[in-house]
Amino acid sequence: MSRPTPAAPPGGHPAAVAPAVGLAAQLTAATRVLAEAGVESPRADADLLAAHVLGVSRGRLPLIREIPGEAAERLRALVARRCRRVPLQHLTGEAYFRHRTLAVGPGVFVPRPETETVAGWAIDELRAGARPGGPGLVCVDLCAGSGAIALALADEVPGAEVHAVEADPAALGYLRRNVAAAGLAVGVHAADVLGGAGPVPDGWAEVSVLDALAGLVGRVDAVVSNPPYLPDSDRVTVAPEVGDHDPPWALWGGGGDGLAAPRAVAAVAAALLRPGGLFAMEHADGQGPAARALLVGTRGWSEVATRRDLAGRDRFVTARLEVSADRAEGAIRGKQ
Ligand SMILES: C[S@@+](CC[C@H](N)C(=O)[O-])C[C@H]1O[C@@H](n2cnc3c(N)ncnc32)[C@H](O)[C@@H]1O
Repeated sequence: MSRPTPAAPPGGHPAAVAPAVGLAAQLTAATRVLAEAGVESPRADADLLAAHVLGVSRGRLPLIREIPGEAAERLRALVARRCRRVPLQHLTGEAYFRHRTLAVGPGVFVPRPETETVAGWAIDELRAGARPGGPGLVCVDLCAGSGAIALALADEVPGAEVHAVEADPAALGYLRRNVAAAGLAVGVHAADVLGGAGPVPDGWAEVSVLDALAGLVGRVDAVVSNPPYLPDSDRVTVAPEVGDHDPPWALWGGGGDGLAAPRAVAAVAAALLRPGGLFAMEHADGQGPAARALLVGTRGWSEVATRRDLAGRDRFVTARLEVSADRAEGAIRGKQ
């Protein structure tokens, strides 16, 4: 039986197949245009986009001499979008956080390397304090976004019972998808830490976090959070990848100084934690003293300390709820 002849394209000539091209030259050209567009790490971004197009890890790129013309065209298209400062992770659809790969994209905050330090501190503390064979530690990630911190806790603290709280419906979609893909036991709660202050999208969770987590009040071992915290003064300096692509309610902390959301998160943490429970909350590098003051000025916290990220910048505040904390739960609820 003879094979059917492919239909000739208009004009009667066979469809042109773009010839294979050298990968090294493509990467050099991509790096140059990315640098000209002001992208911070042009070579890394060129490599990661090429690896994405070719479906290989970045480490395998040096083994590849030529790429199909069609792949080169897709790479050039992605590089052009990156030059328009679309975040790299929106183009690849994934972000790396500690030992996990998370699905991300438009509508959810892209997890940052500095937050890995925050999660890592909590993981180390919890692992050091856990009693082998004892009951699983209860952990809560407030403002969970794609689930980066919650999934790291569930992954790296053996036996932990982890709960992730998020209010934005788009972020909740990514959070549920990442939890399902990881196959880890993380409870997902659509709830609001702040009480709906500021402009929020349709579908924003209306239930308060202390109502959603009523069964956990006073019995949580660790609350870890990367809340929105940027001050309004950063609006003019923030990079286009951030200001134009991360959801605004993931960035701006409110109150002018950016600390309205962190203040609410600290109040919720004080209500959820058991006496002796741990709290870790990320903040901007210029907010160390102010973040400490949030806790020192509030009854019930001890061991309040500022911790640094790998670049040596003040990055998160940690504290322990006093063992003797005499907490008026109703008053704490009232701060939400
Ligand atoms: C800076 S992002 C951090 C996301 C994630 N923890 C991470 O590190 O990648 C802050 C997150 O808080 C969520 N958020 C903002 N206000 C909130 C509120 N009032 N209640 C619950 N979540 C809130 C945003 O939707 C966003 O996903």
